[in-house]
Amino acid sequence: MSTTQRIQYHQYGGPELMRLEPFEAAPPGNGQVQVKVVAAAANPMDWKIRDGLTKMQTGRRFPRGLGHDFAGVVERVGEGVTSVVKGDAVFGAMTMKASGAFADTVIADAKLVVKKPAELSYEAAAALPTVGVTAWQALVEKGRLQSGHSVFICGVLGGVGRCAAQIALMKGATVFGSCRDGASDEAMAAGVTRVVGFDFDPQVLKGRFDVIVITAGTLTRKEARGMLKRGGRIVDINVTPAKLARSLFARDFEVLIAKYTPEALAMVARAAAAGDVVVPIARTVSLTRAIEALTELERHHVPKGGKLIITTH
Ligand SMILES: NC(=O)c1ccc[n+]([C@@H]2O[C@H](COP(=O)([O-])OP(=O)(O)OC[C@H]3O[C@@H](n4cnc5c(N)ncnc54)[C@H](OP(=O)(O)O)[C@@H]3O)[C@@H](O)[C@H]2O)c1
Repeated sequence: MSTTQRIQYHQYGGPELMRLEPFEAAPPGNGQVQVKVVAAAANPMDWKIRDGLTKMQTGRRFPRGLGHDFAGVVERVGEGVTSVVKGDAVFGAMTMKASGAFADTVIADAKLVVKKPAELSYEAAAALPTVGVTAWQALVEKGRLQSGHSVFICGVLGGVGRCAAQIALMKGATVFGSCRDGASDEAMAAGVTRVVGFDFDPQVLKGRFDVIVITAGTLTRKEARGMLKRGGRIVDINVTPAKLARSLFARDFEVLIAKYTPEALAMVARAAAAGDVVVPIARTVSLTRAIEALTELERHHVPKGGKLIITTH
């Protein structure tokens, strides 16, 4: 056992339940690695899980750690691990069930940890896993993106939206997207061809797109359908049971529950190392100040403009 500090909670509920507390981490088991965390990144799913929205999947064992995405240095490897060795700089993700990346140390599934490209800082690498893998799977796997396609991204300046825009551009697609009024210059600077506000009229963009990725907002499936070209596909990442049920019977509508895989993480690492995918960092705080920053972010009193990074140094 090794004692670590981590942000955890003892029951599902609001941000006031987060505590930075000592935690006894078991040694890495078969197929696991122990990583000294240097940086971790916040995602909306961190507080959705803490709120209890996924308690059917995440169970009722407490305390539960918070956070998924991290980068750090391998301290120990468990039996059967050959992909990394002690001392390797890595980045990766905790599974939804395990969580706990907002910590000094994590015990992670070795399959969800890949070597950090030397071109990336620990902070830049920690920002990538959830948003990069989700964007990749939404566009390429579910959306079947091809070079020359026309893509619309609802929420083009969010974490997933920015990655999706960059991956689409990297693949030779043209990108349209929606964002907050007043932020369109930033989206255009990122290569988005045409930017519309949150409450745009879908009729104006009728029949234009091969792939629509919905990361945020109120665009309905029916409205999005009107924006598709023949044979186009809508991918929605805001999962609800009703949407999942509808997606089973619709050829043009997919709901994505992103799955971290070594292949997807490696692809994101390559794209980031090449400079094709860059996730901006809005704010960096230490683990000891992180609860305050996470609470602010969750309540949305701070402009986003990129990721909140939590460092242990
Ligand atoms: N299914 C999955 O596997 C999966 C994986 C990752 C994320 N998600 C979910 O996907 C969502 C997005 O994740 P994220 O990491 O990109 O979050 P994020 O970084 O918070 O980005 C959300 C973006 O949506 C924008 N937005 C808010 N209202 C909008 C509207 N009406 N129209 C268009 N854009 C709007 C926000 O703009 P402002 O900042 O200006 O308000 C922000 O840029 C979250 O709900 C997250 O839980 C799902």
